[in-house]
Amino acid sequence: MNALSEARILDLVRITEAAALASAHYLGHGDNKKADAAAVDAMRATMNDISFAGRIVIGEGERDEAPMLYIGEHVGKGDGAELDIAVDPLEGTNLVAKGRGNAVAVMAVSERGGLLHAPDTYMDKLVVGAPARGKVDLDRPVAENLKIIAESLNREVDDLAVIVLDRPRHEKLIADIRAAGARIKLIEDGDVIGAISAVVAGTNAHALMGIGAAPEGVIAAAALRCIGAEIQARLRFRNDEERERAKRMGITDESRLYRTEDLAPGKELRFIATGVTDGDLLRGVRYFNRGARTHSIVLDRQDGKLRFIDTTHFDDPQNPPLIRLF
Ligand code: FBP
Repeated sequence: MNALSEARILDLVRITEAAALASAHYLGHGDNKKADAAAVDAMRATMNDISFAGRIVIGEGERDEAPMLYIGEHVGKGDGAELDIAVDPLEGTNLVAKGRGNAVAVMAVSERGGLLHAPDTYMDKLVVGAPARGKVDLDRPVAENLKIIAESLNREVDDLAVIVLDRPRHEKLIADIRAAGARIKLIEDGDVIGAISAVVAGTNAHALMGIGAAPEGVIAAAALRCIGAEIQARLRFRNDEERERAKRMGITDESRLYRTEDLAPGKELRFIATGVTDGDLLRGVRYFNRGARTHSIVLDRQDGKLRFIDTTHFDDPQNPPLIRLF
């Protein structure tokens, strides 16, 4: 039986909407922990109000370090479809704390076993759109990959813009991209939305390169698989403790190159994100008198559909606010 058809799209969207609605209250408050906690609480409470038998495979951390949405936690009412779930209740906690764009509440869902249980470490990532899929190689020099990406898009290397997290560790990568003649979009945080922006037309970005968090790599892979794009990745441990923890999770080959299908092997994959702050793909939460409005994206691998969902939430259904159409 198709597990995901049972978990209705609007039910799943309610989960990321709830996280976004709760965390956007902390816009610019300078407190990323409070913003994150609000998203986690709201996401978990909403999940447990919906009929499905969910298991968290990527969440807020191991059981001993996260009170909620820990890896292995069972969520949902426990009846209905058996699903594996990767969540980042607030992707871009600092972005919300500083009132900056591109923060989202995000979740990937699959049948059991459809999402890699990635250790909480770093991951070197190369993300390209469908035209360059199968042609680039994480192990090739940056200049060669850029040439391939440019050819696949029928443009020159100096017309490309590469999304890179603005971190000191990327000094050499940035120098290599510049030396090859391509342009760079440095982002402060949020490489899940960065990855999607890099593979859809109209965002003026054509690839994402560099080291970000591994769990985010799996969530991005689910989205990329739904739209035929590609991620290649390799785990990057920061210390021996992370290495040991990964070994306990069965990851022994440190040099393994992960492809999109390795990170998100599921047959049935769904990716859902709701904007918390205004960004490249989504509008952020807008609160108004007696209501609020959210903007979400849903990608569905089986359906082959990309949906944008624009929801007006009434504080009191008996006393709706004035609805604005656009
Ligand atoms: P948080 O939402 O947990 O703050 O993570 C945001 C993020 O920018 C990710 O998108 C990215 O993969 C990771 O942090 C990069 O980690 P670091 O900030 O340690 O470089």
